[in-house]
Amino acid sequence: MVDVELRELMQPFVLSDYQVQEVYTRFCTEIAKGLRRSTNTQAVTKCYPTYVQDLPTGDEIGKYMALDLGGTNFRVLLVTLKGHHDATVESQIYAVPKDLMVGPGVELFDHIAECLAKFVEKHNMQDAYLPLGFTFSFPCVQVGLKEAMLTRWTKGFSCPGVEGEDVGLMLHEAIQRRGDADIAVVAILNDTTGTLMSCAHRNPDCRVGVIVGTGCNACYVEHVDNVELLETEFKSDHKQVIINVEWGAFGDNGQLDFVRTEHDREVDSKSINCSQQLFEKMTSGMYMGELVRLTLLRALERNTIFKLSTKRAEFAIVLRTNTNIFETKHISEVEDDSFPEFSNTRRIIKQLFGVEKAAVEDCQKLKYICECVSKRAATLVAIGISGLINRINDRKVVVGIDGSVYRYHPHFDAYIREVMHKLVKSDKEFDIMLSEDGSGRGAALVAAVASKIK
Ligand code: BG6
Ligand code: GLC
Repeated sequence: MVDVELRELMQPFVLSDYQVQEVYTRFCTEIAKGLRRSTNTQAVTKCYPTYVQDLPTGDEIGKYMALDLGGTNFRVLLVTLKGHHDATVESQIYAVPKDLMVGPGVELFDHIAECLAKFVEKHNMQDAYLPLGFTFSFPCVQVGLKEAMLTRWTKGFSCPGVEGEDVGLMLHEAIQRRGDADIAVVAILNDTTGTLMSCAHRNPDCRVGVIVGTGCNACYVEHVDNVELLETEFKSDHKQVIINVEWGAFGDNGQLDFVRTEHDREVDSKSINCSQQLFEKMTSGMYMGELVRLTLLRALERNTIFKLSTKRAEFAIVLRTNTNIFETKHISEVEDDSFPEFSNTRRIIKQLFGVEKAAVEDCQKLKYICECVSKRAATLVAIGISGLINRINDRKVVVGIDGSVYRYHPHFDAYIREVMHKLVKSDKEFDIMLSEDGSGRGAALVAAVASKIK
């Protein structure tokens, strides 16, 4: 049983109806500010126009290269678009060593170009001309489909020499330095855009793309008249454009302080991008495990969990001294467990503390802590998605989602839907679909459009 003490301890993670409404209102105001030229500088959700204006028709054909950088895995892909909403994807995961994630930017791009060259060689494509779509999952100001200036690194990256630079150009130069492949960078896109395009290729009602993975963000299809930041020349031919909301930064101006907990503040203060990406730090895989670790530690210190154990002080030391020891994937595993077996939970407790067979009561308590952290994350994500859906004119809106938290958590989808049912306007219909093969297909589709324009 989860007792009153633990419920009290977790109370700050449980958002009341009033708090949900208030976050929703603040989020919608922030988006409106981000879209307007006069208020964009004050907005933290920058609402970047992506210059991706055509959603897929399903008829696209051709072979395209794609790169996917910024999630758990760095991938090189070869996508063959076959028409009839069909595509095949061949891909290879390459490692990005930790030191490259924080070392000089040029070295990161040289590494990317090297992986690309290896892939091209493996597939015997050295002599082919290959257009490439680059999924670069960080905030960028775009001035066209293939010009993207990084505004700030997020997640674990912080390579000097890239912020303010055109990442398409940096990649182009790295490919040129090697000179062993005829690859043209024709489009840069965010992973949310890749997800939206991938899903829209299968389902034409898709209008929103969401990532709940290492990071958390969304994009959606907006009417060009509402996008003051888009140059007029791009408004004449098209009625719509995809907006990369960069909602991970929501809260960076204090708007979420009324719901942030002491543990959110600690996670932030220990991160490499302190005071930035505060919404992301409450909702994404890079930080959720840490929130559980800190809460569990507090529960131990207050004697609300492992009450009968004589080793509580030792457990506390384990948690205090080992950052990231409780991983976000553990949250999914614990929440997948059921009473009274708790097999995953017991395995994880054994792994952490060496306890052979944790008591049912302690397993229930750990599960409750995990549920509070992930339900809050899902609630915040649902607030964001609902805000975007309610902006869109279509009656039916499909949301394409990807990312390890959404994909592997057993109930995240259900948690999100529950809140969306309360917030999405009653005259609208929504559905959520999981992106099947990541954002690679989307990158190829954007590259296909870019090649057509050229
Ligand atoms: C992948 C997409 O499936 O999901 C990437 O192809 C995206 O573009 C990633 O960044 C997000 O999830 P995670 O959990 O790997 O960060
Ligand atoms: C971070 C990035 C954003 C990306 C998200 C998901 O929030 O800033 O661009 O979409 O992570 O990967």
